[in-house]
Amino acid sequence: MREDDAVQPARDAITAFIRSCENIVIFTGAGISTEAGVPDFRSPGSPWLVHKPVPFQEYMASGEARIEAWRRKFAMDDIYRHLGPGATHHFIAEGVAQGQVSAVVTQNIDNLHQRSGIPDHQIIELHGNGSYAHCLHCDRRHEIPEIRIHFERYGYPPVCDDCGGIVKSATISFGQKLPTEALRRAREAMIRADGIIVLGSSLVVRPAADLPILAAEAGARLLIVNREKTPLDSAADYVIRGDLPGVLPELWPLTDMNASSTSR
Ligand code: APR
Repeated sequence: MREDDAVQPARDAITAFIRSCENIVIFTGAGISTEAGVPDFRSPGSPWLVHKPVPFQEYMASGEARIEAWRRKFAMDDIYRHLGPGATHHFIAEGVAQGQVSAVVTQNIDNLHQRSGIPDHQIIELHGNGSYAHCLHCDRRHEIPEIRIHFERYGYPPVCDDCGGIVKSATISFGQKLPTEALRRAREAMIRADGIIVLGSSLVVRPAADLPILAAEAGARLLIVNREKTPLDSAADYVIRGDLPGVLPELWPLTDMNASSTSR
């Protein structure tokens, strides 16, 4: 059987699901970035299993933990600094551009949805973004390159030059509260949607993993595409076990909604 024949049923199912929805929210995890070279968090061999994220309480408790956290961050940044959005990111961006995807709710911190051209206001980052830092006291933004220069010169990260507060990558660490506004926007988008497509997430981290269930309880249909089983599979209307982007249609399907506005 040709490889294409094996994935065609999956592509057809995804196309049919997309064509049956008007307002889709796409929920993404690290599995959409692996084909772009960005490692996910839990697959065997992931560098994240070596450079484990430092829990928030430890980060706040000691200078040594902050030094270790930044050392690990710079090591991960060096792994994927030169990488860009992959085919799955571009597929999602097409759905947004054609007006059928109202929001992308992501657990990813790699800034690749922004770099795929999706407008910021349609990206909801539950676990923050690793492409910049901020002061935990006054929330002033700090740029990673300047922090790295200070770190490499003095062996420790700078404090906020406005207020002297602790500066941290703008990602949400274990034990750190999720951004209230992002969670509110995500809940609102999920409840309004009539279709949720989960791409590349193990769906084991809450409260993020509760959101597709919230949408389903509000009447949305749920499609999960992931290489492995997830705890939400039994709640999904459709589960496609396969590799992204291979199981996705080549292009975002034309639907009645966007056929008039898109000429190909
Ligand atoms: N195609 C399909 N699925 C894939 C692919 C791929 N190319 N690559 C990886 N996967 C699947 C893995 O099998 C796994 O089930 O994607 C899932 C990624 O799961 P995780 O590594 O747990 O990532 P994620 O679900 O985003 O983690 C959620 O956990 O560590 C925290 O804050 C971190 O946001 C992260 C959160």
